Amino acid sequence: MSTFSSTQPQAAITAVGHFLPERRLTNPDLEQMVETSDEWIQSRTGIKERRILDDDGKATAYMATQAAQELIDTHDIDPATIDLIIVATVTPDMLFPATACLVQDQIGASSAWGFDLSAACSGFLFALTNGASFIESGRAERVLVIGADTMSSITDYTDRSTCILFGDAAGAVLLEPSDTYGLQDTVHHADGAHADLLKLPAGGSRRPASHETVDAGDHYLKQDGRPVFRHAVTGMSDVCTDIMERNDLSGSDVDYLVPHQANQRIIDATANRMGLSSDKVMMNIDRYGNTTAATVPLCLYDWQHELRPGHNLVLTTFGGGLTWGASYLTWAYDGSEYAD
Ligand code: COA
Repeated sequence: MSTFSSTQPQAAITAVGHFLPERRLTNPDLEQMVETSDEWIQSRTGIKERRILDDDGKATAYMATQAAQELIDTHDIDPATIDLIIVATVTPDMLFPATACLVQDQIGASSAWGFDLSAACSGFLFALTNGASFIESGRAERVLVIGADTMSSITDYTDRSTCILFGDAAGAVLLEPSDTYGLQDTVHHADGAHADLLKLPAGGSRRPASHETVDAGDHYLKQDGRPVFRHAVTGMSDVCTDIMERNDLSGSDVDYLVPHQANQRIIDATANRMGLSSDKVMMNIDRYGNTTAATVPLCLYDWQHELRPGHNLVLTTFGGGLTWGASYLTWAYDGSEYAD
């Protein structure tokens, strides 16, 4: 639990960037690959298509770099002034070095240090809180927080229960000190008792890569969808109402809900509990599917042109771990200046 103290600077989002691969994987495409239907996928998840990064040596660091570079270019940031880079991902290019180091080199952030953060679909929210702590404590002035995942690299395209869900993308935000706006409050949770519900079984130190792990398909993500769905509905709804109560926010005080995009039905249930109409809910799952750590910054990018200083945003995520949380922030700049 962390509540903003008035003696600290606030950590405000002052720039946003994104990257989406060109190639689209549509529901009709998936109908050719597994036994499923466009109607089933849309009605159960809200997804129509996802983006897939072409397999020509490009991976998560490439997408994270593109998102960061767009942010740098459109907001005229000198990369040498960035102090810290945090990349939230479960699909790093390699287990080490950190993806953040590859991005640091590619964007020319010559003064920055960095690390990766692993919290599955909650990764971006947890990274945002981490980055904000460095700003609030005065240890950093400019922190780049990136959510990036190449989910196609760990998706089994013969498993219809998972391959319809995920896509590839990256989103980036810049955090800077502000006297007026920024991250106000966070409520984050983890429950490792349910770690088995959503995991990548092999490739770590417990079961290093071997012929046996490859033959078993254990380098692909596994999900027990039904219990994860139940936990997600309860977890996201509870944490959002919790953060609203702690900050005396009613539904009419919240300008936008920025939810992790795993399933439209989970988002609808959360918005309903918060008393929000659909026009206040950022939703792009139909176009990109679940891009894991990238969903929240992708939403911020897509809605940037609507955002104005002082808008109240509630960000919320749920994912493997289990991990979940919500953050309340006040938006810091006029996004209409950055419309496409
Ligand atoms: N096409 C057609 N049928 C499918 C299918 C597909 N792609 N995937 C599963 N099915 C079938 C199942 O085999 C099952 O059939 P059965 O009743 O004969 O056994 C039936 O559809 C229902 O499966 P179920 O898993 O209960 O569906 P669901 O309504 O729970 O939807 C998910 C599945 C994955 C969409 C849903 O569980 C979900 O969104 N889970 C949470 C995802 C999430 O939030 N993850 C955390 C963050 S990443």
